[in-house]
Amino acid sequence: MLFRRYYERYNTAERVCHWLVAVSFFLLVITGLGLFDKAFLRYFDVLGGGSKALAFHKAIGVIFLVSSVILFLKHWRETTHFDADDAGWLKCMGGYLSKDRDTPPMGKFNTGQKIFGNFVFFGTLGLGITGLIAWDPLLLNREIVRWCMFFHSLLFVMMTVFVVIHIYLGTMGNPGTMEGILYGQVSEVWAMKHAPKWLAEQEGYRKEWLHPPKREPRAHPDSESEVSPAA
Ligand code: HEM
Repeated sequence: MLFRRYYERYNTAERVCHWLVAVSFFLLVITGLGLFDKAFLRYFDVLGGGSKALAFHKAIGVIFLVSSVILFLKHWRETTHFDADDAGWLKCMGGYLSKDRDTPPMGKFNTGQKIFGNFVFFGTLGLGITGLIAWDPLLLNREIVRWCMFFHSLLFVMMTVFVVIHIYLGTMGNPGTMEGILYGQVSEVWAMKHAPKWLAEQEGYRKEWLHPPKREPRAHPDSESEVSPAA
């Protein structure tokens, strides 16, 4: 029945990959905060001391880097393709900042998600490269290590801000979105609202359900001629 159908949005590998990225990100935040600022040194006590926390941070960092790259590769076709609708989406900021929610139709991901997906990928590469350079701070010139730590911290702050927005939009901001990343499927109603162009590409989906043909004006039963809507 129309509106009761569900469509596969993420397969198991994609979902496992996403949650690996998410869990490792939070573990990195917890283990990294003590390095970021003295005020958070207490975190190191919980993890059994600074050197253990740092070793844990490095190991989780490798998992985060690898899983983020795989997640990006799984979605790169959709997240790196921008078209005129994306320009329209940016113009009205996806309808999030104005009452006018008449946004252009989106494919699998909206423009904001595409930007987020690319930012996570390049941000993770940046975090990974700067983290690897500073892996053993005594190996390289002190100034280089300092600059790396500066960019590492900057990317960490930027990514945290983006992730907070991402979590809000994926949960309370857009109810129904979590179903996809938890169970793999989203409802037809959700897809019609958030990803109509993607929905139209799904197997078994008929485009006329998305854009039903306009009905001919009905003739009044007592008249021979058609009744105009204004009559
Ligand atoms: C509790 C934490 C998180 C929640 C609740 C969450 C929620 C979600 C949801 C619901 C989706 C599916 C969106 C859709 O189908 O339209 C998604 C996709 C995605 N998430 Fe997360 N997420 C979390 C953490 C993270 C973290 C930490 C990252 C990366 C640092 C991340 C990166 C992504 C990416 C790259 C996608 C693919 C779509 C896109 O580019 O936006 N997520 N997430």
